[in-house]
Amino acid sequence: MTDCLGDGEGAKTPMELYEELTAQGDQVRALKTAKAEKTEIEAAVQLLIKLKVDYKQVAGQDYKAGCPPSENSVAPDNGPAASGGDDEDTVDPWNVSTTNAKGVDYDKLIVRFGSSKIDKELVDRIEKVAGQRPHHFLRRGIFFSHRDMHQVLDAYEKQKSFYLYTGRGPSSESMHVGHLIPFIFTKWLQDVFDIPLVIQLTDDEKYLFLVLNVVKIQKHVTFNQVKGIFGFTDSDCIGKISFPAIQAAPSFSNSFPQIFGSRKDIQCLIPCAIDQDPYFRMTRDVAPRIGYPKPALLHSTFFPALQGAQTKMSASDANSSIFLTDTPKQIKNKINKHAFSGGKDTVEEHRQDGGNPDVDVSFMYLTFFLEDDEQLEKIRQDYASGALLTGELKKILIETLQPMIAQHQERRKQVTDETVKQFMTPRRLNFHF
Ligand code: TYM
Repeated sequence: MTDCLGDGEGAKTPMELYEELTAQGDQVRALKTAKAEKTEIEAAVQLLIKLKVDYKQVAGQDYKAGCPPSENSVAPDNGPAASGGDDEDTVDPWNVSTTNAKGVDYDKLIVRFGSSKIDKELVDRIEKVAGQRPHHFLRRGIFFSHRDMHQVLDAYEKQKSFYLYTGRGPSSESMHVGHLIPFIFTKWLQDVFDIPLVIQLTDDEKYLFLVLNVVKIQKHVTFNQVKGIFGFTDSDCIGKISFPAIQAAPSFSNSFPQIFGSRKDIQCLIPCAIDQDPYFRMTRDVAPRIGYPKPALLHSTFFPALQGAQTKMSASDANSSIFLTDTPKQIKNKINKHAFSGGKDTVEEHRQDGGNPDVDVSFMYLTFFLEDDEQLEKIRQDYASGALLTGELKKILIETLQPMIAQHQERRKQVTDETVKQFMTPRRLNFHF
């Protein structure tokens, strides 16, 4: 190689840079898992980004975890998930980041992941089949991508029902507001279609029948396949490599004999944010080989971090998140102090030029939680024209989130150990398949 990095370090080969990048990626993940100081994580991420830029310059191609550089290296279909093709967006179950203040380019992601856009035709069809006005997450494109949703609706119209599966990996004391998105939407689907729901909590070991499917899936997926899909490397622990089969198993109805008996043909629909898609690409790939239907999916966009849409709200960074355990005062302080503003530096400038709702985190949050379409549109226009100031916009958001979270806390207080036990016990449900 004749290229030199130009910062006094001397020339590095693509392979050397590739190895440095892989190690740095591991370092970022380790810091996040260890809940290291925010500044330490940010410094590690910055170095990772710099190494990616250097790598592209030297290797003439984007870094792809799990794909060491070679003249003819070709990314496997739909993957790996960990890096962002010709843009810099990173979306996988562990990391979400983009350099764009407006957030991830979701249209590009659909192409990269090979899923389908939730277009107006599909939203209209859901309205017709469900007989209900579509949820605002559908109307506003917050759920934006799907796999096989038309097939689910075709079958439902022929009286062939389906079940819902979603989940949570309890990594922190409390869920944050972003985690609510798939759950709120799942609840809506559960209510309008009147179907069963299973929720996987991925630190729970009581698998029973599920285990049989886990083993079956593990038998039919090779290390090469998970490397391609998840970007795992030889230095990832074997636990990580075998985990995707655990997340895959509830996608198949015979994992729940209490609910579905021995039926293995009942369609599963999985609402989740798109970071979870790599698990289900693998699941859909293995399904026909083990004689099960592929699960369908509905993907949501990410609820952004308080600091901006360059990354999602994440439980491992307390300052980026509003937790469901936060007090009204904490909510107010976090929004006033940290929510990235698309407003201008001075009131005069703001009044004259207006703010930019497309990068303003408070406005983005309102698109998720303010149900009234007209009110939302008026806020957008007023903010863009300068009639509404950043402080006023933040106040609207604070007054939207405070009661919503307080109501959640009220309901949560009523949950007893008995209620939890009931939900955690595999049992018959009032559905007949
Ligand atoms: P976890 O706990 O990271 O996230 C739980 C659910 O919340 C979604 N999510 C978000 N959605 C919008 N904006 C955000 N900022 C945001 N952060 C997280 C996730 O996509 C997920 O749907 N491995 C999973 C647990 C799991 C699961 C499943 C999830 C097991 N089986 C089936 C979905 C479907 C996890 O750790 O999720």
